[in-house]
Amino acid sequence: MGQTAQPSNADLEELEGEILSEISSASDLAALEATRISALGKKGRVSALMKSLGQMAPEDRKTFGQSVNKIKVSVGEALDGRKAELAHAALSQRLATESADITLPVRAGALSDGRIHPVSQVMDEITEIFGDMGFSIAEGPDIETDEYNFTKLNIPEEHPARQEHDTFYLNEREDGSRLVLRTHTSPVQIRTMEASEPPLRIIAPGRVYRMDSDQTHTPMFHQVEGLVIDEDTNMGHLKWVLEEFAKSFFEIDNVEMRFRASHFPFTEPSMEVDIRYAKVGDELRIGEGDEWMEILGCGMVHPRVLEHVGYDPKKLQGFAFGVGIDRLAMLKYGMPDLRDFFAADIRWLKHYGFKSFDVPTLAGGLSS
Ligand code: PHE
Repeated sequence: MGQTAQPSNADLEELEGEILSEISSASDLAALEATRISALGKKGRVSALMKSLGQMAPEDRKTFGQSVNKIKVSVGEALDGRKAELAHAALSQRLATESADITLPVRAGALSDGRIHPVSQVMDEITEIFGDMGFSIAEGPDIETDEYNFTKLNIPEEHPARQEHDTFYLNEREDGSRLVLRTHTSPVQIRTMEASEPPLRIIAPGRVYRMDSDQTHTPMFHQVEGLVIDEDTNMGHLKWVLEEFAKSFFEIDNVEMRFRASHFPFTEPSMEVDIRYAKVGDELRIGEGDEWMEILGCGMVHPRVLEHVGYDPKKLQGFAFGVGIDRLAMLKYGMPDLRDFFAADIRWLKHYGFKSFDVPTLAGGLSS
């Protein structure tokens, strides 16, 4: 019984040949998978042979089992081989059809349409330069108290400087005091000194506000404050820092700076610094011509300011400066009217703005 159903060696060979030829002619991965299932699957042809083992005489079982196993192995290998061939062919075909023409122009999109405003770009440039000199960034609020914007900076009540600043005042509060839109970034000096121990080396870029509007003044503009406090920091250091900054920023060696004696209540002595430029048609050129543009105020921090923050002016000294960022941008990028900066005219921004990938670094070139 049952032994009549036992397939002969010739039957086995025929089945093997049949399956192998199905495998080699499978034209895609789906056909190959169908062959695999019909051969090695639970109800497949090879699996059916294994099942017949149970009905065999024990002496036949061993040799038959070995033969079936050999078929399993050869079918398995053939499947793997054909699978690799088909996968390779599929990939080659995909590569042939999905070629990319790298000579095509980049498609316009948000990333290539958008522009970084020159003020943001210049702030990044300034940060990069001072960062390299070891300065860190400090911040303060745009809406300030009278105390921080004026009093602690040695500008007492009734001091004429308060009028000169053309301050925007907020409505009076219940206690009669009035907050202000900060007229300069100098209150950040006070906030930083109050919050940290010397030595200090910081810059504080940000927005400032004054009631003023013409070709080179807008009611909101940008400054970067600088502050260095140490035991023996002197005016030589101040001058060096500013000159190095100007050379790096304008990316030329012949930047000419003019230091003029001036007055600020929070520095003593105080200076204003102008940069030589030429106006050629509608363009501004640095280091040429005989026009001067004031770009910053600076000086040695007034001892009374140090006292106000609890520093000992007998032990500590240092310098501070406040640079007009928008002015620097006008000079560097040849933009003649400051009011255009804030007109939100897309044509202007397209022309003067920067691509989002133009991140300024000293190593890569600030403005390239
Ligand atoms: N705060 C001054 C201004 O806005 C500039 C300045 C800063 C001057 C620091 C001296 C020191 O005009």
